[in-house]
Amino acid sequence: MTISNNRRKTLISGIQPSGQVHLGNWVGALKNWVRLQDDPNYECSIFVADYHSLSGDYDPQDKRRQVLEIMTELLAAGLDPEKCTLFRQSDIPEHTELCWIFNTLTPLSFLERMTQFKDKSGQQDRNVNMGLLDYPVLQAADILIHHGEAVPVGRDQVQHVELTRDVARFYNRKYGVDYFPEPEPYLTDTPKLRSLTDPLKKMSKSLGEKSYIALSDEPDVILKKIKGAVSETEGRLTLTEAELDELLTKPLEERGLDEETLRGQAGVWNLIGLLRLFGHEGEAQRFVDSQPIRYGELKPLLAERIAERFADFRERKRELEAYPDRVLKIFAAGAERARETARKTMEEVRRTIGIR
Ligand code: ADP
Ligand code: TRP
Repeated sequence: MTISNNRRKTLISGIQPSGQVHLGNWVGALKNWVRLQDDPNYECSIFVADYHSLSGDYDPQDKRRQVLEIMTELLAAGLDPEKCTLFRQSDIPEHTELCWIFNTLTPLSFLERMTQFKDKSGQQDRNVNMGLLDYPVLQAADILIHHGEAVPVGRDQVQHVELTRDVARFYNRKYGVDYFPEPEPYLTDTPKLRSLTDPLKKMSKSLGEKSYIALSDEPDVILKKIKGAVSETEGRLTLTEAELDELLTKPLEERGLDEETLRGQAGVWNLIGLLRLFGHEGEAQRFVDSQPIRYGELKPLLAERIAERFADFRERKRELEAYPDRVLKIFAAGAERARETARKTMEEVRRTIGIR
């Protein structure tokens, strides 16, 4: 592997502390974080986006526990503080300071058209707060304050990375500098895992417990959730995966197939895709080749494979849970390191924009 310009690229990503890490997080993002911390081309930082999580509905009683749990899970999943800077966003107030400066550069119309803003303001229609709208600007600050160049995320976050590129460009142009890089999203082969209960939507904590598999779910829970997964009842793949993806990009009236059919097809392909990821070579293909798909075999096999894959994770999580202070200390030490870069960036920004 070559290291371009003898310099490592800065890689940064974050996750909100709003529940347990699930399989969608893993296949879309976390898997890459764990892999890329060993890649000599990248200098990695991963953080817990606690400021971001305040824009959702939440009970303040839960937040401290959620932050500690996500930290514990990131370590259990294999992130290693020797290889990757781990920190908590709110330990670095410079992130929010830079966000304010970026607010003055970001057109309101860009934020109003963000898909996540539209979805979330529908989901929590009694709490459409400014944080929901401003969310991508804080994300741009998270990335650019560390001069992030590569941002490993799932597909749903690509639009936010694109906004980050706009913000970097607006800043550089307004102040006549070439200061912030334009970061690129870094996707896995499965940038969108589907929900088990509504396969037309992405797997997400917000769709309820049955819709996702948490990495910490015990084997019996995994089996139960997979048994309940929505999929085409006859076990027939009437569309190829490519045809399905193509149809789903079209507006409802141009699809020519009803939603239930599409949901069923999306559900089967989601299970097949999971077996490809977590099973052995050829296992998934055998089911595709011998239709009707025998769910009675596919589902228990898939549940077993997933449970096996995360057995170590469950074990490490249990071990780490006995030492919460150690976990917190690791993130505090990372924050100290990350804050140095953030401070330096803010000093330079304050001078450039004319307030120092
Ligand atoms: P959630 O949507 O469940 O709240 P987060 O917003 O905390 O999850 O996502 C953390 C990371 O995991 C992001 O990079 C996001 O793009 C990725 N991710 C979340 N859900 C999925 C999914 N279903 N498929 C692929 N990637 C996902
Ligand atoms: N918005 C991301 C999510 O919900 C989390 C996040 C916050 C993030 N800041 C970031 C991801 C910066 C990448 C880079 O998943």
